[in-house]
Amino acid sequence: MKILAVLAGRKNGNGEILTKEALMRAEELGAQVKMINLHDYNIMPCTGCESCTVKFTQQHCAPECVNMHKDDMELIMQEWLDSDGVIVTVPAYSFMPAGIYRIFTDRHLSYEPNFHKQVGNAAYFKHRVGGIITNGGSTRSWMSMVMESVTVTLLTQDIKVVDQMMANRAPRPGQILLDDAALQRARQLGENVVKGIQNYETVEYLGDPNLGWCPVCHSNLLSLGQPHWNSSGYPIECPVCHCGGDLEKDENGRWKFVIQANGREKSMTDGSGAKDHFFEIGETMGKYYANQGVIRERRKKYSAFRPAGIPRRGGQVPVEVAEEA
Ligand SMILES: Cc1cc2nc3c(=O)[nH]c(=O)nc-3n(C[C@H](O)[C@H](O)[C@H](O)COP(=O)(O)O)c2cc1C
Repeated sequence: MKILAVLAGRKNGNGEILTKEALMRAEELGAQVKMINLHDYNIMPCTGCESCTVKFTQQHCAPECVNMHKDDMELIMQEWLDSDGVIVTVPAYSFMPAGIYRIFTDRHLSYEPNFHKQVGNAAYFKHRVGGIITNGGSTRSWMSMVMESVTVTLLTQDIKVVDQMMANRAPRPGQILLDDAALQRARQLGENVVKGIQNYETVEYLGDPNLGWCPVCHSNLLSLGQPHWNSSGYPIECPVCHCGGDLEKDENGRWKFVIQANGREKSMTDGSGAKDHFFEIGETMGKYYANQGVIRERRKKYSAFRPAGIPRRGGQVPVEVAEEA
């Protein structure tokens, strides 16, 4: 039973302390644990080339990222894909996950298990569970999109999220040591990840059942529904797990989000949403390849217009790159 913890906060910071608490408990319960801090690795940003998505959806084969042999990402991902459980620990920066975590997870696209499944790549068929620790210097309102954004990154990795916690109001490194409840909660999270690994098929969400609006992923965000690629959508949708339904009042007059009968058709929690998205991308990108001549012609107007930029330090002007179509 292998658990990999990935930290996106400071070295010796609050997130590291919470993660160690979780890992100590997991180790007591028999897990082999590893922990890395993303700041220790060279992880290049996704170039946005989409060669992975093109390979997946247009050529129906498993891609390799163009940066695969240029940085440490592949080494980390081999451990990530080999683990039975992951714990990700991410601090709040401007209500959102710290940017280094997003750089790491943008690179997950070429490792997307549900896309690899569509092209028959058996290496990606492993069950994994996840636990999420988020921490910040303020209250939940100043961390409003952290947990939800991090949950998305595990759902797109086909990881069953069994627990998630938020530690608030600990800005300086080590300040979390004054918060015994948060430390205890992190221990519980470590235990819940182990339970999730041991009972993968049957395990349900083990965190606070009353957390958030969404009864499926426990996100605290909701969106007004929009039409989907191949269906009309739902009145209200969870922007994290894409389950849909509407708001209803419970017996105490409080609003709750109720998932409708077909509300899980696009769910990101069971692979159906990711599979649907694979075919959506296939069709949408197909229109690009069918219309390259039109795009090339219409692009000329934009190629000819060259607004001034800002010279880089040292005076060089950023290099222009060749256009694709
Ligand atoms: C650039 C930056 C932005 C921040 N923005 C927020 C914020 O929006 N909400 C919040 O609660 N804390 C915010 N903080 C505080 C950190 O989340 C807090 O210091 C946390 O303990 C850092 O975790 P670490 O010790 O694991 O690195 C911010 C810190 C930095 C450096």
